[in-house]
Amino acid sequence: MTALLQLDQVQSFYGAAHILHGLGLQVNAGERVALIGRNGVGKTTVVNTILGLAQMRGGSIQFGGVPITRPRPYIAAQHGIVVVPQGRRIVANLTVEENLHLGAATGRKGPWTVPEIYKLFPILQERAHTPGTALSGGQQQMLAVGRALMANPSLILLDEPTEGLAPVIVDQLADIFNKVADQGTALLLIEQNLSLVVRVAHRYLAMSKGSVVAEGQVVNAPEGIKDIEEHVVV
Ligand SMILES: Nc1ncnc2c1ncn2[C@@H]1O[C@H](COP(=O)(O)OP(=O)(O)OP(=O)(O)O)[C@@H](O)[C@H]1O
Ligand SMILES: [Mg+2]
Repeated sequence: MTALLQLDQVQSFYGAAHILHGLGLQVNAGERVALIGRNGVGKTTVVNTILGLAQMRGGSIQFGGVPITRPRPYIAAQHGIVVVPQGRRIVANLTVEENLHLGAATGRKGPWTVPEIYKLFPILQERAHTPGTALSGGQQQMLAVGRALMANPSLILLDEPTEGLAPVIVDQLADIFNKVADQGTALLLIEQNLSLVVRVAHRYLAMSKGSVVAEGQVVNAPEGIKDIEEHVVV
C-alpha cells in the first residue's frame, strides 16, 4: 500500500538549530495514528517540515508516494493533507462561515460542505455570522477542525487540538475525531493527553529528541495508557 504520508531519515532545522534527527514515520489511508512526546521534542516541527516552515536538509518526504523536495502548505493540501495548527489560528476579521470557506480553497471534491460541517458542529451554525475570534476556545477548535474538513482531506494532522480545553469539550472533540475517521479520513493526532490518544488512535509513535523512538498498537483504556506512558520520555 502507498502511504498517504511518509518521512524517512528527516533532518530539520530552524536556521542553525537542528531539531529533527533522522525522523521516520508513515501514515496509511484511513489510519488513526497518535504522535506523542513531551514538550519540545519536535512534534510541531514535524508538521512545520511537512508544510515547509522548517527547513529539511536531509532525508525525504513523500505525499501519496510522490517525493516532495520543497514542501509547501498548498502542495500538502493538493495531496489531501491538511493541518489543524497548534493554537488554532482562526482568522480574526472573518466570520465563522467565512473561515470555513477558506478551508475549501484547494477545490478538492468530497463529502464535506458547509451544511455537513454544521451537522457535525451545530454550534458553528448558530454562530455562523460571528467573528471567528469571538468564539470560546473550544468553539474555535471546532471551527479549526471544520475548516480543515472543508478541504476534503485524506489525512488531517491535528497538533495538540485539546490543549487548554475543558474535559467536556475534549470529550466532544474525541467523538468528532472518531466520526471523521469512521468516514475514512486518516488522522495524525499530536497529543499529550493520553486518555484522548487511547480513545481515538489505533497506533502510536513516540518521539524523543527529534526522532521517533518507539511505536506500537494502542490498547483501549486504562491498560493502554500505562502501555504507552512508558514510551513518553524526555
Ligand atoms: N522558530 C523556531 N526557531 C528556533 N527554534 C525553534 C523554533 N520553533 C521551535 N523551536 C525549538 O525546536 C524544538 C522543538 O520544538 P517543537 O515546537 O517542535 O516541539 P513540540 O514537541 O511541538 O513541543 P510542544 O509540546 O510544547 O508543542 C524546541 O527546542 C523549540 O524551542
Ligand atoms: Mg508543539
